[in-house]
Amino acid sequence: MAFYHRLGKIPQKRHTTFYKEDGKSLYREELFSTLGFSGIYSNKYHIHMPTQVLEVKILDLKDSEDWHGAPLEYYLFHTDKKKTEGDFLTARNVFLRNRHCIISTANVTRNMEDFFRNSGAHEYVFVHHGKGTFLSEYGNFPFVEGDQLIIPRGITFQIQFDNFENNKLLIVESDTAFDIPKHFRNEYGQLTESAPYCERDIKVPQVLEPIDQTGEFRLVIKKFDKYYEYIMPHHPYDLVGWDGYHYPFAFNIKDYCPKVGRVHLPPPTHLAFNTRHFVVCNFCPRPFDFHEDAIPVPYFHANVDSDEIIYYAEGDFMSRRDIEQGSVTLHPGGITHGPQPGKTEESIGAKGTNEYAVMVDTFEPLQPTVNVRETMDPKYSQSWLTD
Ligand SMILES: [Fe+2]
Repeated sequence: MAFYHRLGKIPQKRHTTFYKEDGKSLYREELFSTLGFSGIYSNKYHIHMPTQVLEVKILDLKDSEDWHGAPLEYYLFHTDKKKTEGDFLTARNVFLRNRHCIISTANVTRNMEDFFRNSGAHEYVFVHHGKGTFLSEYGNFPFVEGDQLIIPRGITFQIQFDNFENNKLLIVESDTAFDIPKHFRNEYGQLTESAPYCERDIKVPQVLEPIDQTGEFRLVIKKFDKYYEYIMPHHPYDLVGWDGYHYPFAFNIKDYCPKVGRVHLPPPTHLAFNTRHFVVCNFCPRPFDFHEDAIPVPYFHANVDSDEIIYYAEGDFMSRRDIEQGSVTLHPGGITHGPQPGKTEESIGAKGTNEYAVMVDTFEPLQPTVNVRETMDPKYSQSWLTD
């Protein structure tokens, strides 16, 4: 995370006595650290011991099957054709994955009564449609359309929607952290003047209301591809305070400040977050390139080391036809891709674009699941033949 944050009450000195109101019993300190003890961390202060558990069970939650034999070709698929009723966890449908990431969407139709912790992966959640409250042991904040929630591995949380008319999430799980790119920050960690967003754009937990309740509380833990049910004897949100650098936060795609060149600038210009194995970019409304003969849409290109997926959220995407909200294109590494017929000519002289889209560029190939086969446009791969 970009900056230090604290919420609630904490002792003045870490690892010292911190008594409850009765002056006798102790709050329980927990150091939550990363990368051994060398990465970012937070110190958390619980009402109850964080290790208490009544029962542990292995859960058999559904998963999407891989599409074995999926050809190396261009894909366009429509994620809204695959809807599963459920909460932000059970409504997920996986479309693509590799050893380092899992890309899913969820059309959420109810709130989760239980609690969730992904202990195997960090989660990036793009709120395409819907609004509500992000709740966690670290505190709560409201979310709205366009928010990109960054939920570090190991955090207990819930995503609660205000209503169920039209909620849609794009979820990317990663085995390494979603970082704010180093070149966005100065040597002190502060976001620089040339970064596409700054600290003011980042929404952090603001309200911490510790819940001191005992009973039976169901926590679902995901660890890699397995799910477990932990029955806890106290409410998981029992922190009275915490401080550090490890906590969930959100950044809205509409706060991203895009850059524009004299001629076309490549996708890293639109970088938002990076992990060790893929990047996340934000495409936002912007004026087009200002050379008098500029071609604003991309040239044909081959990025042999990356699979490129784009999730289309809003507006008309400059280089594609037949795109709907919630459509995804997958252009695998190893075959050249580029604008569809007519789009290059159409873009010449255009003044700008009103698109919103999220791009994920992975450094290892993605495996499609059967959900891609079920929702894809079978003609997309040959759609350049009409030129
Ligand atoms: Fe590309």
